[in-house]
Amino acid sequence: MRKPVIAGNWKMYKLLSEAVETALALKPSVANANHCEVVIAPVFVHLKTVADRLEGSNILVAAQNCAPEAKQSANTGEVSAEMLKDVGASHVIIGHSERRQFYCETDESVNKKTKAALQSGLTAIVCVGESLAERESEKLFEVVEIQVRGSLGGLTVSDMERIIIAYEPVWAIGTGKTATPEQAQEMHGFIRKILAETHGGETADKIRILYGGSVKPENIKDLMNQTDIDGALVGGASLEAESFAKIVN
Ligand code: PGA
Repeated sequence: MRKPVIAGNWKMYKLLSEAVETALALKPSVANANHCEVVIAPVFVHLKTVADRLEGSNILVAAQNCAPEAKQSANTGEVSAEMLKDVGASHVIIGHSERRQFYCETDESVNKKTKAALQSGLTAIVCVGESLAERESEKLFEVVEIQVRGSLGGLTVSDMERIIIAYEPVWAIGTGKTATPEQAQEMHGFIRKILAETHGGETADKIRILYGGSVKPENIKDLMNQTDIDGALVGGASLEAESFAKIVN
C-alpha cells in the first residue's frame, strides 16, 4: 500500500508572518490525518522558522528548489540540499514547471539536483508534465517519458525509496483547468509503466505519483479514487489553511 502524500507548494506568495500564520492554523486542523503524509513548501528564507514552529506536528517541510551541488562550495546565490536538511526540511520539490519554464531547468539539471537531494538525505518530489501545445499535438506521452527517464537517470533502486513523482500538466497549473481524473490516471499509469521498465515492477509499485494542477477540495476525491494517483501537489488551494486542510482530510 502506498501512503498518500498531500503537499502544498506556497511558491513565492507569502511573507514570513503569513507563512507562520498559515502553518500554525494548519497544525491543529490536520493533526488527525494519519492516512497521509502532509508536506508544505515555504520559500528558502522561511524554512527554518516554519520548521521550528511545526516541530512535533505531523506536517513535514519541503524546499521548492535546491542547488545541483550537494556540498558547501563557491556558488553565489544558491542553497544546497545539505543546508535545507540542516534547517529542518525533509523534502524538496525539484523541476517544477515554473522552474523549467522561467529558470532554464532541464532534465539534466533536475537529475543533478535530485541526486544532490538524495545524497543529503532529503526526499525529492520530482515534477514532470506536458504543455498544452504538447498535449494538443499528441506528444504528451513522449514528452513525459523523456522527462521521467532524464530526471531519474542513474538512480538506483534504493535511491527510488526517497523519490516522489509529481505529474503536473502545465496547462492545468494555476489555470483552474484540472485534468479529468481519467486523463490524470492515464498519465500516472503510463509513468508507473516507465518506472517498472527503469527500476522494476516492485519498485514502481511503491513509488508515490502525485497529481498537481488546480487541485481543490472539490476535486481531490475523484482524483484520489484513481488507481495510480497517490496524492497531490497543491498550489493555490494550499495558501489558505482551511482549503488545504479540507484536501488533506
Ligand atoms: P495550482 O499549482 O494548484 O495552483 O494549479 C500547482 C503547482 O504549481 O504545484
